[in-house]
Amino acid sequence: MSFRNVPKEVLVGSVVCGVVFVTGYLFGKKKSPRMSISKSHGSGKNNPLLQYVLNHSMREHPVLTKLRLRTMEEPANVMMVACEQAQFMANLAKLIKAKKALEIGVYTGYNTLNIALVLPEDGVLVACDISETYTNIGKPFWKEAGVDKKIDLRLQPALKTLDDLLSDGQADTFDFVFIDADKANYDNYFEKSLQLLRKGGVIAIDNVLWGGAVVNPPADDPDAVAIDKLNKKLHRDTRINLSMLTVGDGLTLAIKL
Ligand SMILES: C[S@@+](CC[C@H](N)C(=O)[O-])C[C@H]1O[C@@H](n2cnc3c(N)ncnc32)[C@H](O)[C@@H]1O
Ligand SMILES: *[C@@H]1O[C@H](CO)[C@@H](O)[C@H](O)[C@H]1NC(C)=O
Ligand SMILES: *[C@@H]1O[C@H](CO)[C@@H](O)[C@H](O)[C@H]1NC(C)=O
Repeated sequence: MSFRNVPKEVLVGSVVCGVVFVTGYLFGKKKSPRMSISKSHGSGKNNPLLQYVLNHSMREHPVLTKLRLRTMEEPANVMMVACEQAQFMANLAKLIKAKKALEIGVYTGYNTLNIALVLPEDGVLVACDISETYTNIGKPFWKEAGVDKKIDLRLQPALKTLDDLLSDGQADTFDFVFIDADKANYDNYFEKSLQLLRKGGVIAIDNVLWGGAVVNPPADDPDAVAIDKLNKKLHRDTRINLSMLTVGDGLTLAIKL
C-alpha cells in the first residue's frame, strides 16, 4: 500500500478510495446521481464492509495513488472511477491478455493509467474525451509511470473517434472497452464498441445502476431512463454474454460472442 507517505488528513480520505468525496458531498457540495449509490453504500466510515474490502484488496500502483489524490482536489472528483472497480478491470484486462483497449470518458485519467499499466509494451489504449483541462491533469502521471507511449488520447467527441477507428479498418480488433462518458450516448457507444471488439473481447459499462435510480427511472432524469433502457436491451442481446456487478455505481460486462 502506498498510503504511508501522505499526510494523515489525506490518508483518512485516501484509504476509502474514491469514496473520500462523499464527505465533501454530505457537507453540502453539489448533487449528483452518482453520489447516491456511494451514499447508500456509505463512505468507508459508514460502511465497514466496503472499508474492509479496500483494506484487504487494494494494491494501488504508487503513481495511481498520486493521481487519485490529485483528482480528489478537483470539484468534479465524483466522476472518478472507484479504485476497487479499476483494479478489478485491470485484472480482467490482464486475464484476457488485452493488447488493444479503448476508453470512452477519461476525466483525469485514473483508469487510463490503470489499464495502460497492464498492457504489454506494444499495447495501445485509445482514450476518448473532449476536455483538455481534465485530461491535462492526468498526463504528467501517465508519463511518470512510464506508460504515456501506450496512450493515444483523442480530444474530440467520442462518437467521432469510434467512427474514425471503424473507417480506419479497426473493427474486430479491440480486446477491452470501458464506457464511462455522457449517458445519452451509451447505446451508441455500445453499438460502435461492439463492432470494434474482437470475439471474446469485453465491454465494461460504468454507472449501470445510476445511484439506484434505474429501479424506477424518474421521467425527468434522461440519464436514468437511457441507462435503464440500455440495461433492458443488453439483457436480451444475443450478440453478447453478460454480467451486471454491484461494484461502484454498477458495472456491466458484455462479452462478445
Ligand atoms: C465519468 S468521467 C470519466 C471517468 C474516468 N473513466 C475515470 O476513470 O476516472 C466522464 C468523462 O466523459 C467526458 N465526456 C463527456 N461527453 C463526452 C463526449 N461526447 N465525448 C467524449 N468524452 C466525453 C467528460 O469530459 C468526462 O471527462
Ligand atoms: C481499515 O484500515 C484502517 C487503517 O489501517 C483501519 O483504521 C480500519 O479500522 C480498517 N477497517 C477495516 C474494516 O478493516
Ligand atoms: C456464453 O454463455 C453460454 C451459456 O450461458 C455458454 O455456453 C457460452 O460458452 C458462453 N460463451 C462465452 C464466450 O463466454
